[in-house]
Amino acid sequence: MKSVFYDVFGFTPQAAADAPGRVNLLGEHTDYNDGFVLPTAIPQRTYIELARSPNNEYQLYADRLDEFVSYVPEQDMPAGFSSYVFGCIRLLQQKGFPLTPVAMTISSEVPIGAGLSSSAALEVAVLRGLRKLFGFNIDDVEIAQIAQQAEIQFAHVRCGIMDQMASSLADVGHMLFLDTRTLQRAILPLPANTELIVIDSGVPRSLANSEYNQRRSECEQAAALLGVPALRDVDDLRRIEALPFPLKQRAHHVISENQRVLEAVGPISVERFGELMNASHASLRDDFAVSIPALDVLVDLLQRHQAVYGARLTGAGFGGACVALAKKDTHATVTAEVLAAYTAAGYHGKVLV
Ligand code: GLA
Repeated sequence: MKSVFYDVFGFTPQAAADAPGRVNLLGEHTDYNDGFVLPTAIPQRTYIELARSPNNEYQLYADRLDEFVSYVPEQDMPAGFSSYVFGCIRLLQQKGFPLTPVAMTISSEVPIGAGLSSSAALEVAVLRGLRKLFGFNIDDVEIAQIAQQAEIQFAHVRCGIMDQMASSLADVGHMLFLDTRTLQRAILPLPANTELIVIDSGVPRSLANSEYNQRRSECEQAAALLGVPALRDVDDLRRIEALPFPLKQRAHHVISENQRVLEAVGPISVERFGELMNASHASLRDDFAVSIPALDVLVDLLQRHQAVYGARLTGAGFGGACVALAKKDTHATVTAEVLAAYTAAGYHGKVLV
């Protein structure tokens, strides 16, 4: 295989690793409430190649951005995409792993800004690569935990652990049912005779970080008023009646969404699975207020298609992609028809999966 690393640095890499993006089927904005999620890996991956640096400098090249960053440990950490990489490196060092400067190239197929976790794929690929190069004894769950901390501490998004666990532990064709409090998990098959469709709305996620952090603190306020450690600890919707706006709406989404995930992993029909996805979108739109008109239009077109069981926005919201569960062997017709109608409505969508 062609080595990007060799082309950039002129010597052979000593290790290579990769990790996938993810799409979440159900369980949105539940992970930072200690709840349940149901993501799967997407085929697109982030690949890295690396070697010990020939000097005291970290050297990083991202081929999609055509950006080169170098950094000596005594300097302030550079900003931008490299903060995810240097964040992972710094956290490993803080945990006592002996790590010396590396040269690294990054090539990613995971769409950026579509809600498919390009940052988690980058973090997990980098940590896998460092584990391989230095022979560190770290398991896949610890990789996800360090990756999540890199995102929180260095990219300043107070995210949950779904994306990093999905990138580290999920695979294409299976759902990762994860309890984000205990990290207990099960790998489950996708509903029989279905296929996934992921379409980008063409609207990049905007305000995502600030609104995301705000939703998280609203959930924390709601939990505090209810006297529970996290909204995960409430399953009776009657308990939230007295909460003020918008905390009641936020709590309603999280509690009902957890119930949807738990129902979805039980013995239900594929039609019911689709209904749960549709209900999830309505809840994200009406109670959690993270949808935008473009996502609502796209989801509506998908939901109306006779070959689609269910559809919803996926990821944090405020732009990005929608996921749909469709009848097997209908991907080409559904995507062509839905995209044509979406274009006629004045938008520019793109099929991602
Ligand atoms: C982002 C975060 C995740 C999760 C989702 C919403 O992808 O990184 O932790 O909270 O949003 O479900």
